[in-house]
Amino acid sequence: MLRPWDDGDEPALVRHASSRAVWRNLTDRFPHPYGPEEARRWIAATREQGEPAPNLAVVFEGEAVGGVGVERKADLARLTAEVGYWLGEAFWGRGIATEALGLMTRYAFERFDFARLEAHVLDWNPASRRVLEKAGYALEGRQRAGSFKDGQLVDTWLYARLKTDRGANEETHALPP
Ligand SMILES: CC(C)(COP(=O)(O)OP(=O)(O)OC[C@H]1O[C@@H](n2cnc3c(N)ncnc32)[C@H](O)[C@@H]1OP(=O)(O)O)[C@@H](O)C(=O)NCCC(=O)NCCS
Repeated sequence: MLRPWDDGDEPALVRHASSRAVWRNLTDRFPHPYGPEEARRWIAATREQGEPAPNLAVVFEGEAVGGVGVERKADLARLTAEVGYWLGEAFWGRGIATEALGLMTRYAFERFDFARLEAHVLDWNPASRRVLEKAGYALEGRQRAGSFKDGQLVDTWLYARLKTDRGANEETHALPP
């Protein structure tokens, strides 16, 4: 299920976010190393974002094991949000990210005025491309040398799903009220 980040999630957040393999596929705004101070700051920041919460914890067997969120773009793209997600390495390969992205997609289109959700995936991350495809996102292009991460220039794959698209992952359970 997805729910807002809460005080008390800090130890789980440190345990699962503190991973080079996670960081290597995310924006440089995701801290590395990831310690208690980073966790405290993230949870406090999300609690200031108000309702509906744009950033949610991915909860598996009662523990926050990852995160999923949307961030509104600016100016002419203001009805577009970038969607992002990550899971602690111990939880990879069980379909959790696909389910979390499906839930966030539905939640974002229902609770915000977004017309479009998009995601940028680094070329070395085929698992994330697969997650997007399974959640009904369409490949729109390959941005050559679109990112500079971990000291390397890397191609970036752009995926998007529109509010008006029909299809996969119409899940309704496990969303915050
Ligand atoms: C990417 C990530 C979210 C995937 O989470 P997950 O819960 O393991 O994903 P799922 O189990 O739902 O689906 C993974 C799919 O990728 C496939 N996959 C895994 N490794 C792969 C590889 N090297 N090449 C191709 N496909 C691969 C899996 O087989 C599965 O597809 P399937 O169901 O058709 O078999 C997770 O690895 C992660 O948190 N990575 C670090 C952060 C990150 O990359 N975030 C996304 C940034 S764009």
